[in-house]
Amino acid sequence: MSNVQTLLDEGLAALAATADPVELENVKAKYLGKSGALTELLKQLGALPPEEKRSQGAVINQAKQAFEAALNGRREAIAAEKLNQQLAAEALDVTLPGRGNGSGGLHPVTLVKERIVALFQSMGFEVADGPEIEGDWHNFEALNTPKDHPARSMQDTFYVGGGKDGEPLVLRTHTSPIQVRYMENHKPPIKIVAPGRVYRVDSDATHSPMFHQMEGLWVAEGVSFADLKATLIDFLRRFFERDDLQVRFRPSFFPFTETSAEVDVLGERGWLEVGGCGMVHPNVLRNVGIDPEQFTGFAFGIGLDRFAMLYYGVNDLRLFFDNDLTFLGQFR
Ligand code: DAH
Repeated sequence: MSNVQTLLDEGLAALAATADPVELENVKAKYLGKSGALTELLKQLGALPPEEKRSQGAVINQAKQAFEAALNGRREAIAAEKLNQQLAAEALDVTLPGRGNGSGGLHPVTLVKERIVALFQSMGFEVADGPEIEGDWHNFEALNTPKDHPARSMQDTFYVGGGKDGEPLVLRTHTSPIQVRYMENHKPPIKIVAPGRVYRVDSDATHSPMFHQMEGLWVAEGVSFADLKATLIDFLRRFFERDDLQVRFRPSFFPFTETSAEVDVLGERGWLEVGGCGMVHPNVLRNVGIDPEQFTGFAFGIGLDRFAMLYYGVNDLRLFFDNDLTFLGQFR
């Protein structure tokens, strides 16, 4: 009798000491398995006389039930512990602030470009485009800038090898080649603006090796310097939202225009150059098969980064290209 109680006590202690389901199953097998200790006792009952068999049988069955109850209790306890551990490990603090969804925005130079393009579209200009890797012909020669022309030395830059026919290739130094490409494929009247990236060997607070320009071109019968002035003054006053903005046309030189001028606006700190312009040189029109006796036109080129600096009051051009989100995030 007492050995049943001892066995049960041992069994209950073994159950209480288990820490995971595998150990638990091992202890169960040790007592209730095919040749487990309690099972063996039950097997031995058959050899006893009837009286003893009944009383001893009742004792063993009680012990077995007690063991089973403890087994189930421990099984539930282990499962509950495991769940608690898991909950603790995967704890989610719903009171923490969220990470937020960062929303993107357009680059300040893109915003200014879109604003400028929209102003010119409202004046009837269409948008044209051209390649960033240009041939010598489109970037220089057709724009009345032959190989030995001194004006090349200011722009000759980033040659990237030769084209199929041996023509030197260059990262375009200005958007002016788009004028040539457009006139090669369209007959006057022509009225376009062409924004894009351009490249020069230049780097300081107001110059970057890559920057943005926008070209303008209006070729038709009877287009005059008066149209050039009216168009640019109207554009500048609308862009800077000042009807009394002072604009100055300063005589200058570009190989592809005659007459040529630089355009300045009067700012708080004096006159500021914002672009170049002029009447399209007859040689340029001839180069693209347009008769300069019948058609005249004007062209202009402005620096979009320069306009973005003026518009937003940014004094270092390089800030636009550092890609610092704290800076860029201010302009949506
Ligand atoms: N292409 C010139 C430059 O990059 C700017 C320019 C001046 C463009 C006069 C023009 C123009 O169309 O007429 O310096």
